[in-house]
Amino acid sequence: MLKPLFKTLDRNAFALFCGALLFFLIGGVLTTVLPGMTEDSWSEPVAGLTELNEQQMRGREIYKREGCWYCHTQQVRTLVADTKRFGWRGVDAPISTPGEYVHDRPHFLGTRRIGPDLARVGGKYDKSWHRTHFRNPRDLVPGSIMPPYPWLLDENGGQEFEDLTAYIQTLGRAVDWRPDDDYEE
Ligand code: HEC
Repeated sequence: MLKPLFKTLDRNAFALFCGALLFFLIGGVLTTVLPGMTEDSWSEPVAGLTELNEQQMRGREIYKREGCWYCHTQQVRTLVADTKRFGWRGVDAPISTPGEYVHDRPHFLGTRRIGPDLARVGGKYDKSWHRTHFRNPRDLVPGSIMPPYPWLLDENGGQEFEDLTAYIQTLGRAVDWRPDDDYEE
């Protein structure tokens, strides 16, 4: 029964193209459109999620402007390699859930990990660590390929550094998981 169909597809490039497109669309609808329509919990914010305040929003804009997301993702995937690596003091990092992103516009899930994932980096370091790191990452991490961002500290009395760090410290804090709260205002 399928033989004539296969024959047509084999001989007719246009039919083959249409067939391929059809399957691509079916796959696309099943994996991207349908889940969002049927799964309501995805748009429910997780319990501890708060909206960013004005300063943190400014920091987020700087994160966008400086292209931090070229190198950093914001998603702990369902892999041991992720939960262990981005965990802290023996506690595994919780896997990211859709409810943590509901206020993110645009989201910074990212696609490339030239640097570590930042989904749970909030509270990992204090402000003075970030200050040194943004001025020159290699002062803290020898051989780091992260570029220095000295202008964040120099302009407007370091206001941009304050804003960006305030934003960084919120990352992953909606879920209560760190054994120590080393968030420094
Ligand atoms: C060219 C790629 C690149 C860009 C762009 C980049 N980083 Fe990084 N980042 C890295 C690498 C590589 C590391 C790991 C080495 C280190 O800590 O310096 C890192 C480390 C970090 C860490 C420490 C993470 C941890 O868990 O130890 C933070 C925080 C960070 N980056 C924030 C930023 C921010 C904010 C920006 C934008 C202003 C930025 N990065 C831009 C590559 C990058």
